Amino acid sequence: MEQANSAIRVDGARKVYKTVGRSPGRAAVDGVSLEVEQGSIHGLLGPNGAGKTTTLKMLIGLVKPTEGTFKILGEDSTSPKGRRFLGFLPEQPYFPQHITAMQALRFYGQLAGVEKQDIDGRAVELLGKVGLDGTERTELSKFSRGMLQRLGIAQAIIGRPAVVVLDEPASGLDPVGQRDIRNLMLELRESGTTVLLSSHQLSEVEAVCDRVSILNAGKVAAEGHIDELLNISGQTSIRVRGLDELPAAVNALAGDVAVSGSVWVFSVEDSAVRSVVDAVDDAGGAVMSLAPKRESLEDYFARLIASARTGVAS
Ligand SMILES: Nc1ncnc2c1ncn2[C@@H]1O[C@H](COP(=O)(O)OP(=O)(O)OP(=O)(O)O)[C@@H](O)[C@H]1O
Ligand SMILES: [Mg+2]
Repeated sequence: MEQANSAIRVDGARKVYKTVGRSPGRAAVDGVSLEVEQGSIHGLLGPNGAGKTTTLKMLIGLVKPTEGTFKILGEDSTSPKGRRFLGFLPEQPYFPQHITAMQALRFYGQLAGVEKQDIDGRAVELLGKVGLDGTERTELSKFSRGMLQRLGIAQAIIGRPAVVVLDEPASGLDPVGQRDIRNLMLELRESGTTVLLSSHQLSEVEAVCDRVSILNAGKVAAEGHIDELLNISGQTSIRVRGLDELPAAVNALAGDVAVSGSVWVFSVEDSAVRSVVDAVDDAGGAVMSLAPKRESLEDYFARLIASARTGVAS
């Protein structure tokens, strides 16, 4: 379904990498379609080798697609007009070693069309945003892995692109850096920017993404809100405290029971929630939380991969 306000539209993307001296292997990306609404944050998830980077690189024009169309705000993403809308953080950002952070951002700012008189101010502002304040004059040979990642993110957004594509933005970042980048993505969305990111981190994806596409073996295995994808319908997860053991009536209904001290976490059928809460109350315990039961991303991927191997969808 074509939406007038889609910022990114990928249709039928397919990539078969050429392998020297061998017959072409299986498609790295095999019929992927994506649609990202303007001003939203979309996550690409999937196990290693699923085809996330290849999809993003085809969109950016760094990998030549075998098939497919790639549009940014209605323009061919590799046309000069389409490119002007785009900012990109590659999976492994690389910079010349012997320039300073300021020189790097000046260079990328010029490439992205930032007005000359605005470049230095914008570069300093961005270094602050990505937690690199005070490194203006530091040579990049002295930057750590995480600092280069932060600079890569600043580089991606220096030209205030309408669409930002980030290949694993949290990679190599410490927890504070990850939080900074999450906040930066939310700020970008606030200002109407569209963000497409790939990630392995459920916490990052949950915190920022409006929708996600899950890739597996080059295909879109699922698409939607993260909650829709991971909620196990009909079950509630309950956390209680203050009990040495679960009342027998609860024990009979509870699944996936985990205990730490006097805190218990377990799941029950939705229909049993009321009676379980009463039983916990009667036994002198306190209910700390009730939430729809969710599958972990690890379990989801494991199930996805197993079903792809056996050909049995579960
Ligand atoms: N330049 C290349 N030449 C040949 N095959 C490639 C090339 N780049 C990627 N591939 C293959 O394409 C498939 C998809 O790789 P891709 O890098 O897109 O996966 P990914 O989802 O980004 O994985 P990761 O989570 O590890 O970053 C893999 O099987 C990989 O081996
Ligand atoms: Mg990748």
